[in-house]
Amino acid sequence: MSNRSPAATESAAAMRTRLVTTIAVLRSELAKVRRAGRTIGLVPTMGALHAGHLSLAQSSCVECDFTVATIFVNPAQFGPHDDFQRYPRTLDSDLAALASVGVDLVFAPEVLEVYRPEHATYIEMRGPAEPLEGRFRPGHFRGVATVVLKLFNLIQPDRAYFGQKDYQQSLVIRRMVVDLDLPIEIRVCPIVREPDGLAMSSRNAYLTAHEHAQALVLHRSLRRAAEMVAAGERDAKTVLAEIHELFAEVPEVRLQYFVLTDPETLEEVERVDRKTLAAVAAVVGTTRLIDNLVIGP
Ligand code: PAJ
Repeated sequence: MSNRSPAATESAAAMRTRLVTTIAVLRSELAKVRRAGRTIGLVPTMGALHAGHLSLAQSSCVECDFTVATIFVNPAQFGPHDDFQRYPRTLDSDLAALASVGVDLVFAPEVLEVYRPEHATYIEMRGPAEPLEGRFRPGHFRGVATVVLKLFNLIQPDRAYFGQKDYQQSLVIRRMVVDLDLPIEIRVCPIVREPDGLAMSSRNAYLTAHEHAQALVLHRSLRRAAEMVAAGERDAKTVLAEIHELFAEVPEVRLQYFVLTDPETLEEVERVDRKTLAAVAAVVGTTRLIDNLVIGP
């Protein structure tokens, strides 16, 4: 039985979690881990961590001998009008949270450590990177794929953990891993939600209480689509018409897209007669939110 206080236990856990900010130290630390024959799990994040991020870290800690989490607000994936400057940065509490779930090493580099001033190489992807987020956030997946490939090269994990919350992102990463023959197993973990249904997101911190309440229409719309299909509706147009009515009741929420697509190709379907991805993006106040649900008979 330990007689240490919870706070002392927490700081002991924190001491076991190594914070690394340079590529040189990262490489030498991981070389030791690899020489010992230990498997490495990678959890890439932009910080401002919540229970969704931590669920990925927990899965990695269970499945891998050594877990690396990265915290890096990647400028390359933000558009000129996006929230790069105001994106929440909460390194101290992030470190404590990662330590508490047993993460072994946190890599939190400065921008110049990742992108040297002469940086000129980017990953361009067609296919799964083109529709939906690709259309509304041009260049977003170019930045995501580029930074994730760099992290894969730096850390050379056996497994890497992503969330279904960013469903299209996980397809983009899977495509890249196959196309570029990367020997990495991609694990996609379920969406963690607030008790009221809102998908957890670092960007939820921007929402006022009123906006938070309005934002619940995203999850409500996904559930309504699932219910209609469960009740036997198969016509995508009929489902989408009802969803548009639902959004019309909350006019302050600006719907960008609500689609029913093939879960692999992201092509829109006319009939929901098999496993189908329902994906939604909307702007609430000044905050852009996305959510999704796999539905179907
Ligand atoms: P970020 O938004 O910080 O998310 C990091 C990981 O956590 C992603 O794989 C995301 O899908 C997952 N995640 C976020 N919210 C979640 C939730 N509610 N439930 C489950 N998982 C959730 O996604 C990124 O960062 C970046 O694009 C990154 C991959 C780190 C590249 O910069």
